[in-house]
Amino acid sequence: MDGSDALLVCDGVTKRFGSLAAVKDLSFTARRGEILGIGGPNGAGKTTLFDVLSGLNPATSGRVRLDGQEITRAAPEAICHAGLARTFQLNACFDSLTVRENVQVGALFGRAARGLPGLRPSPEAEEATEAALALVGLEGKAGLVAGALPVLDRKLLMLAGAMATRPKLLLMDEPVGGLTHAETDQMMAAVRRIKAQGVTIILIEHVMRFLVALSDRVMILHHGERIYEGPPAGLVADRTVVDVYLGEGASARLAALLRETAP
Ligand SMILES: Nc1ncnc2c1ncn2[C@@H]1O[C@H](COP(=O)(O)OP(=O)(O)OP(=O)(O)O)[C@@H](O)[C@H]1O
Ligand SMILES: [Mg+2]
Repeated sequence: MDGSDALLVCDGVTKRFGSLAAVKDLSFTARRGEILGIGGPNGAGKTTLFDVLSGLNPATSGRVRLDGQEITRAAPEAICHAGLARTFQLNACFDSLTVRENVQVGALFGRAARGLPGLRPSPEAEEATEAALALVGLEGKAGLVAGALPVLDRKLLMLAGAMATRPKLLLMDEPVGGLTHAETDQMMAAVRRIKAQGVTIILIEHVMRFLVALSDRVMILHHGERIYEGPPAGLVADRTVVDVYLGEGASARLAALLRETAP
């Protein structure tokens, strides 16, 4: 692939926990501006891959490059400053702070140049905060205490905090787990607005309706290895994917959905 087309390049990445290889010799690329969807059974290594990419738990071997910069062994904050932000499978926010204050944390610390500690946020950080709140649709709730928010708003808040760091690459770990159909649609709209801004997105999700609707390409992992990479429409025709992940029922429902939404 043309190097300039690739924003993230993962080259032979392995992550071991003792004798368990949670991610095994995995190589893939995320292209600029695309949404790459990741699926696979529980324990496949999806979140572990995000932990490797974001520096929370670095790779045992292999290389990761973001926009040409080696980030394999960089600290999480350095990786964030290099342009990678993520959300978490379990909701993480500061419950006692307001919605706006939560997003300000991302705007202040997600950028290397953050001014002097203890002083008011810079105009640039204030602007990033307001832009991120508007992007996820939380501007009307900015003064509420985060701990009182319902689950969708908490997920949107985590997303706003990540976007306030102004990333090139956004990693989202199961953004719609536990949401209703209507709430899932709201999250889908937020993801589409983020993509429209030119941000590259890697999305982990078990909710296939969401994954298939948003992803330009899909990669399915199983026991830390890739068993499928290609267009979402190809999932239901792939015997291994159906056998180890989707099952016959889900596969038939997904095939029907793909027929309904086909261009
Ligand atoms: N810190 C850790 N120490 C030891 N083993 C771990 C650790 N983190 C993950 N694992 C193991 O690595 C494997 C992959 O886990 P991971 O959380 O990446 O799966 P996943 O694909 O995200 O699953 P799910 O869909 O349930 O979120 C599992 O067997 C898990 O038990
Ligand atoms: Mg996970």
